[in-house]
Amino acid sequence: MSPDFDTVINREGTWSSKWEKYRDQDVLPMWVADMDFAAPDAVTQALRARLEHPIYGYTVVPDALTTVIQNRLRKRYGWSVLPSDLELVPGVVPAINQVIRGVVRPGGAVVTAVPVYQPFLQAPEYMARQLFTLEMTEATHWDFPLAEFRALAEARPEIELLLLCHPMNPVGRVIPLAVLTEILEICLAHNIVICSDEIHCELLLDGRVHTPMASISALARDQTITLQAASKTFNLAGLGCAVVIAQNPALMAQFKAGGAGIMAHVNTLGYVATQAAWSECDAWHEALLRYLAANRDLLTRHVAEMPGVSVGVIEATYLAWLNVTELGLTDPQGFFESAGVGLSDGAQFSGDGYLRLNFGCPRLMLETGLDRMRKACDAWMQA
Ligand SMILES: Cc1ncc(COP(=O)(O)O)c(C=O)c1O
Repeated sequence: MSPDFDTVINREGTWSSKWEKYRDQDVLPMWVADMDFAAPDAVTQALRARLEHPIYGYTVVPDALTTVIQNRLRKRYGWSVLPSDLELVPGVVPAINQVIRGVVRPGGAVVTAVPVYQPFLQAPEYMARQLFTLEMTEATHWDFPLAEFRALAEARPEIELLLLCHPMNPVGRVIPLAVLTEILEICLAHNIVICSDEIHCELLLDGRVHTPMASISALARDQTITLQAASKTFNLAGLGCAVVIAQNPALMAQFKAGGAGIMAHVNTLGYVATQAAWSECDAWHEALLRYLAANRDLLTRHVAEMPGVSVGVIEATYLAWLNVTELGLTDPQGFFESAGVGLSDGAQFSGDGYLRLNFGCPRLMLETGLDRMRKACDAWMQA
C-alpha cells in the first residue's frame, strides 16, 4: 500500500514544537523542520515491538544498527566505513557543538557560508570559538563562495574548521562534486577540518544523487567528520538519534574528547526507529520524495503569482527560501503570522529579507497556507 501523505493528521496533544507555538491561534505552522506526515508503518511497528519489553534502561548501539548504517552508506554512495568509524549521538546539533569543542583549539576559529541553519552560527559562540562567515548570494543561486573562502583561509590561519551544510538549509542547494573538490583542496592547503552536516542528504529531489564529502577521495575521508541522521527523512526528530562518521582515528578521538562527560546517551527508541527506517522503508522514502517534489512544484507556481515574493530552484530539503524584500515589510514574519501562516524569520539564518517555509505537509495544508499568503500580499501591494 502506498503511504498516505494527503491526510491531515491532528497533532494536538502530542506536544509538537511546531504546533504548540501557535496553539489556539488560526496560524498554520510552516516553520521548524519536521513534517506533518506519519512516520513509516515499519518504524511504528518496530517501536511497538520494543515497547512490548517494559524495561527501558541504558542501551548499547545494537550491532544490527551498525550493520544497517554500513550497508546503507555502501549501497547509496559506494562508501565503506568500519564500525569503529561510527559514533551514535542524540542529535546533529549537539554533535556540531562537540566537533567544535573537540577539534578547534581555544583561540582557533570556525568558518561557514551563510545563510545557514542557525545552530551553525550559535555553536562557535557557545564553544567560545571565533566564527567567520562567507556570504552566499541569490544572484549566484547560492553557490558556495569558493574565491572568498580561498582568500579568507589564506588571510586567517586561525581557521581550523569548516562547517558545511550539505545539502544546504535554508537555501535548498546541492553542492556539486566539482565544488566539493575545490572546498577540499582549500581545506587541505590550510589544514582546515571539514564538518559536513548531511542531515538532509536523503531529501534530494528530482532524482539527484548525494555525494558525501568524505567519500570523494582518501584525502577527503581523512579530513572530514560527517553527520547524518534518519530524523529529517523519516520524520523522527523527537526520538533523538544521529550518526557521526569519522574515518580518521585522530579526528574520531578529538570528537569523542569534545563530548566527554557532557554528551547524553542515545534514546533507546531512537536506535530502534533509525534501524527500521534505514532498513525497511525504501518504498516509503521514494514516495515521500515524489510527494515533496510535487509540493515544491505547487509552491513554485503559487509563489510566481504572489506579488512581492520570489523563490529560487529548490534542489533538496522540504524548505523554501522566500525572498520577500520587495514587500518592504519591517516584520515579514509577523506580517505572515497575522495572515495565518507561521514561517521562520530569515534573520536567524543570517538572511534578512527572507522567510523559510516548510512544505513537508499534506498538499491541502500547503495550498491553504499559500492562499493565505497570496491574499495578504495582494492586499499589501494594493494598499
Ligand atoms: C542542517 C541541519 N542540521 C541539524 C538539524 C537538527 O538536527 P538534530 O535535531 O539532530 O539536532 C537540522 C534541523 O533542521 C538541520 O537543518
